[in-house]
Amino acid sequence: MKKMAGLACISVALCALTACAKAPAEAADAAGAPAASLAGKKVLVAYYSYSGNTGEVAKQIARLTGGTLFEITTDHKYPQAYRAMTQQAKKEIQEGFRPALTSKVSDMAQYDVVFVGSPNWWGTYAPETAAFLDGYDFKGKTVIPFFTHGGGGMQNCERDMKKQLSGVQMLPGITFYGSGSGAPEAELSAWLKKLGF
Ligand SMILES: Cc1cc2nc3c(=O)[nH]c(=O)nc-3n(C[C@H](O)[C@H](O)[C@H](O)COP(=O)(O)O)c2cc1C
Repeated sequence: MKKMAGLACISVALCALTACAKAPAEAADAAGAPAASLAGKKVLVAYYSYSGNTGEVAKQIARLTGGTLFEITTDHKYPQAYRAMTQQAKKEIQEGFRPALTSKVSDMAQYDVVFVGSPNWWGTYAPETAAFLDGYDFKGKTVIPFFTHGGGGMQNCERDMKKQLSGVQMLPGITFYGSGSGAPEAELSAWLKKLGF
């Protein structure tokens, strides 16, 4: 009996591990392709960028979709020194800190589609981006995330955004290495086409 219980525990643990391992791919599939073309929809391209990389990609997306570019800004400051800055960001992410927004989308109700861009910070998106997502009602809109990174790729960015925007339609996002000169245009265009633009 003890042996059976032990085996059951092991198989539950293995199932949990398998489910964990599959989670990101399934999340992307579940989002699926858009039911209809997004062409002609009113698009906002909102982004937070600390050192400019995400901003470059945001500009490209706005140009290719005809969307309105919007920079997320806050009153929050970081230390100049890189290590101190990254350590502060790490602590704030762990604590769920949300800085106060200093830029505001005028008439968010007019937008059907909102691209949301952020740097990957410690495997997730920046608190500034999280504050933006908290600041508006996205119900009835289609949110499409994009991220830039320093080698880690998507990590938990998309998964965490899905969690924060629970109940909101979100299409599969994309990540680009933060090169400082934007995304490879062919890859970006192919992704947008796949989304229905
Ligand atoms: C605080 C901090 C944490 C970071 N954490 C990660 C990470 O976990 N994984 C990764 O791939 N890149 C990480 N990076 C690198 C950034 O994601 C990358 O440089 C990004 O392109 C910066 O975008 P930005 O120029 O728009 O701010 C981190 C950068 C900073 C400043």
